[in-house]
Amino acid sequence: MEDEALLELRNATVTFESRNRRINALDNVSIRIGREDRLAVVGESGAGKTTLVRCLIGLTRPSNGSVIFKGRDIHRSGRKTLKEFRMSVQIIFQDPYGAMNPKHNMLQYITMPLKFLTGDMTRMEMETRAEELLGYVGLKEDVLWKYPHQLSGGQKQRVAIGRALASDPEFIIADEPTSMLDASAAAGILNLLKKLADTRKMGYAIVTHNMGVAAYSSRDIYVMYSGKVIEQTETAALVSSPRHPYSKVLLDHAPRTLSSVFAENSKGVNLKGDSGEHDPWAEKGCRYMQLCTRAVERCASEFPPLAGNESGRYACFNPLENELKRGQ
Ligand SMILES: Nc1ncnc2c1ncn2[C@@H]1O[C@H](COP(=O)(O)OP(=O)(O)O)[C@@H](O)[C@H]1O
Ligand SMILES: [Mg+2]
Repeated sequence: MEDEALLELRNATVTFESRNRRINALDNVSIRIGREDRLAVVGESGAGKTTLVRCLIGLTRPSNGSVIFKGRDIHRSGRKTLKEFRMSVQIIFQDPYGAMNPKHNMLQYITMPLKFLTGDMTRMEMETRAEELLGYVGLKEDVLWKYPHQLSGGQKQRVAIGRALASDPEFIIADEPTSMLDASAAAGILNLLKKLADTRKMGYAIVTHNMGVAAYSSRDIYVMYSGKVIEQTETAALVSSPRHPYSKVLLDHAPRTLSSVFAENSKGVNLKGDSGEHDPWAEKGCRYMQLCTRAVERCASEFPPLAGNESGRYACFNPLENELKRGQ
């Protein structure tokens, strides 16, 4: 029996005009998020990850498909559902500095949602709550009086997480939360999200271009390529036996040790290599075909459907062997 999902994307498509043509930045993507899930969405730059995030939090309305929060379509719901949705699902961005007003100190920044949520807290009550929120993210109360330029990137990202916790969310979505941080700050942020998930019975989705970060922080994983989910499975299964050739390439490029995961954080993967002109959206069939070493005839005319079962799905006509099965 399946529990009701907290948040779902059902067959969502988002189309953009870009360089005089239309591309599906998100192409018929479905994602089902349970309350205590620890998900990663991984893919190179331009894969559609941020578009997916914007759909999940209601910022972008898919041109086709729907966004379902606790069984209700958020684009067809009333204010009550929307308020519950906004409190329950919080977002953290890559660049916490970008979201902060340089003239506001952290007390002002962190209490902004409190004003919206409660309206009638006294200044003292807000200060106490702000200190409590900072405590959850491992910061001392003197941070309240600091301005953005006085804090490190890691500290700012912690404050952003603290602010997200103000509404006592059930789920946090983090879009590249560590890609602007140095190695130790990045590790600290992922460990913090794990700890919060443990202690608050909260789930999270980490969206990243870095397979190492995804593997370190998630239980289940979605791999995206040019607007499509091309593999979805348990993270451990993907790491030990990827089925889609692109998943394997991402894994082969992933740093091997934990410290190098974060050290290589900012580099990203440039898989396009010599074929910089490669335009996946121009393909009639599988968009990965031109870069794929396993392409078969059928790949040129049809995009493989995402098929499989509960234990894993992949969109490939010529998948890699399942190592686990072969070893039996
Ligand atoms: N507002 C927009 N207008 C036009 N094209 C966009 C817009 N947002 C994203 N895109 C395009 O959609 C694709 C996916 O972008 P994005 O979701 O930001 O990917 P990612 O976060 O994985 O790097 C890219 O080709 C990008 O150029
Ligand atoms: Mg992005």
